[in-house]
Amino acid sequence: MASSLLNGSHFFTSELQINRRFPSTTLVNFPINSRNAILVPKCTLSPSPSPSPSRPVSQLRFIQHKKEAFWFYRFLSIVYDHVINPGHWTEDMRDDALEPADLYSRNLTVVDVGGGTGFTTLGIVKKVDAKNVTILDQSPHQLAKAKQKEPLKECKIIEGDAEDLPFPTDYADRYISAGSVTIEYWPDPQRGIKEAYRVLKIGGKACIIGPVYPTFWLSRFFADVWMLFPKEEEYIEWFEKAGFKDVKLKRIGPKWYRGVRRHGLIMGCSVTGVKPASGDSPLQLGPKAEDVKRPVNPFVFLIRFILGAIASTYYVLVPIYMWLKDQIVPKGMPI
Ligand SMILES: C[S@@+](CC[C@H](N)C(=O)[O-])C[C@H]1O[C@@H](n2cnc3c(N)ncnc32)[C@H](O)[C@@H]1O
Repeated sequence: MASSLLNGSHFFTSELQINRRFPSTTLVNFPINSRNAILVPKCTLSPSPSPSPSRPVSQLRFIQHKKEAFWFYRFLSIVYDHVINPGHWTEDMRDDALEPADLYSRNLTVVDVGGGTGFTTLGIVKKVDAKNVTILDQSPHQLAKAKQKEPLKECKIIEGDAEDLPFPTDYADRYISAGSVTIEYWPDPQRGIKEAYRVLKIGGKACIIGPVYPTFWLSRFFADVWMLFPKEEEYIEWFEKAGFKDVKLKRIGPKWYRGVRRHGLIMGCSVTGVKPASGDSPLQLGPKAEDVKRPVNPFVFLIRFILGAIASTYYVLVPIYMWLKDQIVPKGMPI
């Protein structure tokens, strides 16, 4: 295992074992049942994130409104595939993260929610026929990039909102949402996960790939200013409340992090759950948190947007810092 930690395959796959449950103190409000598990390596070079000071998930960060995400991606889509993915979301990580989605047949019906430029969809269509895959995103600018990709030509590509999907109940075999495409930018993650449950067929699987909350103070500060970085236990709670069974969380990360998670990761885990019964989620929710049609104060919007965008820049620098450390610190030593 030590060598796999060092050559970058340290996070999972064949080395996986279910070896940790959250301490009961962190799970006081949402005990994990015996079928739900965190999948972690047998050992890691850095401690797993410890519970951080609690913060309300409903507290909106600077880029957590749908409108803010819309404008954020209006500009980011221009460089997304070239700037974000090489640092945070590599092809290796993507394939690792999709593995628990169990894309075992080319005939599966798959929805990729918040599919953006189609980077994750490119991993999906390696296993599933493109004509069975739908990419949904609220950003026409991101989708325009997906449309240019040859392997995605046969996918259905539609604009839509993750909290209000244009698919019938019991429609898909797999619901995939990566880059937290969704989670970070959904003002109400629980609603998005409830919607994932609704559109899946009985026995269908949801796979949400998203960030993890930092434990290092500076990283935590910028994460909080930017968007939602959920804790691992929050993902599990959302899945369970939506009605999913067999909820599992697999840790992922760029190989040059050598397992370090204290800075948080924009792509830090892949969470899966199985829909046990047909129909809508048993969870009842009130009205939506955000009315996208409500007028906003342009000045407040601009200030929030600029602060959020500055905070996100920190997360462009962190992988460069970690990459340099990986080059400098001798192999075998923690970084
Ligand atoms: C980090 S990107 C990930 C894109 C892609 N899944 C990937 O793996 O590269 C997040 C995407 O989520 C989309 N998004 C954010 N909020 C959304 C919402 N409420 N409904 C649909 N898409 C949303 C953004 O437009 C953006 O394309």
